[in-house]
Amino acid sequence: MRAALRTRVLTDYEAMSAAAADVVASKLREKPHAVFMIPTGTTPLGMYRGLVERHEREGLSFALATFFNLDEYLGLPPDHPASYHVYMRENFYGLVDVDPGRVHVPDGAAPDPEAECERYERAIRAAGGVDLCVLGIGRNGHIGFNEPGASFDSRTRVVRLAESTRRVNATDFEGERAPERAISVGMRTISDSREVLLLASGTNKARAVAAAVGGEVSEEVPASALRLHPNVTLLLDRDAASDLGGSASKEGRA
Ligand code: F6R
Repeated sequence: MRAALRTRVLTDYEAMSAAAADVVASKLREKPHAVFMIPTGTTPLGMYRGLVERHEREGLSFALATFFNLDEYLGLPPDHPASYHVYMRENFYGLVDVDPGRVHVPDGAAPDPEAECERYERAIRAAGGVDLCVLGIGRNGHIGFNEPGASFDSRTRVVRLAESTRRVNATDFEGERAPERAISVGMRTISDSREVLLLASGTNKARAVAAAVGGEVSEEVPASALRLHPNVTLLLDRDAASDLGGSASKEGRA
């Protein structure tokens, strides 16, 4: 079955981030033990800031919730400044009351990466599956580090990053090249989530968003797989929605 994607277009990055923080906060209120899958990158920074603020101002608690990150670079130890372990500590996990025993980021430095991928999938299953998966989107339509061509049936595994992704992410590596490979949850791991929220901001995401929403459902555009999922919301700012045409200029279905 192909569902229409629920699309909410917000004025700007700040409004999109506040709306994303609202979705996470209401999921937590409804189910304090909820299981979240969450992204890194530039896009979710405002959402994390919003959640940290609610923790500090309103006492919003994350203590009973479980978190799984989508991905980590292969070969980076957890204390490498460009690792997603460090990103998550600095932007979220280290600033709120998460229970360290309920926080999971793939170990990019695991001696046996294949075993690490299997362990990660098992941990997701043991937690009861994901209630809410929050995603960003790459300029090439990737979600997690599932690059174009990734099988819709894939599970957590070692993946090769697209050259374009390595170029965009090179800024985190201070002149060094970004790693060639990463551990990423799979397309099936994502689509098994009970609910998905995809965030996109800026004109450089507009084409990928339009391809995901209105192009063919194809492994060449990983985010298009979300059209096969019954419970997905796209939270976009106006710039990211700018290739969708008039019908998506306000809240509605695209
Ligand atoms: C990050 C991830 C990626 C990013 C995507 C967008 O954990 O899984 O799919 O969400 O590359 O990155 P930004 O937000 O930096 O544009």
